[in-house]
Amino acid sequence: MADKIPLLVTGANGLVGSKFTELFSDKYSFDILELSDPLAPVDITDLEAVKHRFEASGAKACIHFAAFTNVTAAWEQRGDKSGLTYKVNVTGTENISQAAAQKNVHVIHLSTAYVFDGENKETYVESDKMNPIEWYGETKARAEDVFSAATHPWTILRIDQPFRSNPFSRLDIAHAFMAKIKANEARLFTNHYFGPTYIDDLARVIDFSISEKLTGLFHATAGEKWGDFELGTAIKNIFNLSGEIQPSDLDEYLKTVNRPYQRNTALNTDKLTNILPFKLKTVEEALAELIF
Ligand SMILES: NC(=O)c1ccc[n+]([C@@H]2O[C@H](COP(=O)([O-])OP(=O)(O)OC[C@H]3O[C@@H](n4cnc5c(N)ncnc54)[C@H](OP(=O)(O)O)[C@@H]3O)[C@@H](O)[C@H]2O)c1
Repeated sequence: MADKIPLLVTGANGLVGSKFTELFSDKYSFDILELSDPLAPVDITDLEAVKHRFEASGAKACIHFAAFTNVTAAWEQRGDKSGLTYKVNVTGTENISQAAAQKNVHVIHLSTAYVFDGENKETYVESDKMNPIEWYGETKARAEDVFSAATHPWTILRIDQPFRSNPFSRLDIAHAFMAKIKANEARLFTNHYFGPTYIDDLARVIDFSISEKLTGLFHATAGEKWGDFELGTAIKNIFNLSGEIQPSDLDEYLKTVNRPYQRNTALNTDKLTNILPFKLKTVEEALAELIF
């Protein structure tokens, strides 16, 4: 077998990153910058530590999955640039970009549909203006801005509501819906929309971005618009589950919480699919592959 390709990775312990490393461990040797690494922990908010790891690595590309992803906890830190959300998502990304610039490393940065306000009726395209309405989305938008001034090659892949074939310790949306339906405890919005992302397919898109040195901003979901109730119903039907799903109203829910909520974050993926040499699975094809 050919030698493995060295690859820098942040956030390899997370829901998305761990699936990429699982699927591509035969092709790449991973140089992991991980906060919880027992042997060589790296905090991406520490510029010197990040630079040191980049300098020691022979990798020509870095996948930057790491982020502070708890949207509700992020809202509690809104406006606070010394809070963890800003430090990890913005300062951490600045550090990755600065270290990458020194060795002209290609950075593949994972972003989110939450850079949009969610008021669009259909799907967002890459040229739509970012307008985040909460702090996690705000910090991820500022992280995207880091690359507009970058001197190294970069790719931004925006995703939304990612789910993977096998369950992770923190359940993704599809596995969480499945668990709720099985327990007969599913109450799902009939008026909230999003663009599910099949992580197993996203991993192939990331690999393609590295191999083909794809640069620029791309939406990388499955390219479809789904509602919570609709997705739950599809899971119930595909797996022949007996639990009932109660319809629920986003507007009623919003009266009970104090943070803003995007109503529709579905993304148009034509820009990416027009150049991909393989077809992304439909959401229904992806759901059929779920392991529980
Ligand atoms: N999950 C979603 O719904 C979603 C939706 C859209 C976009 N995204 C984006 O997709 C990417 C991956 O998300 P995910 O859901 O896989 O995230 P996740 O499961 O929350 O994992 C986050 C990862 O970031 C690492 N990390 C956090 N702070 C760090 C620090 N200071 N230094 C080094 N590493 C640090 C964590 O390391 P430890 O485990 O060591 O703490 C973990 O590996 C993120 O950029 C996220 O914004 C996610």
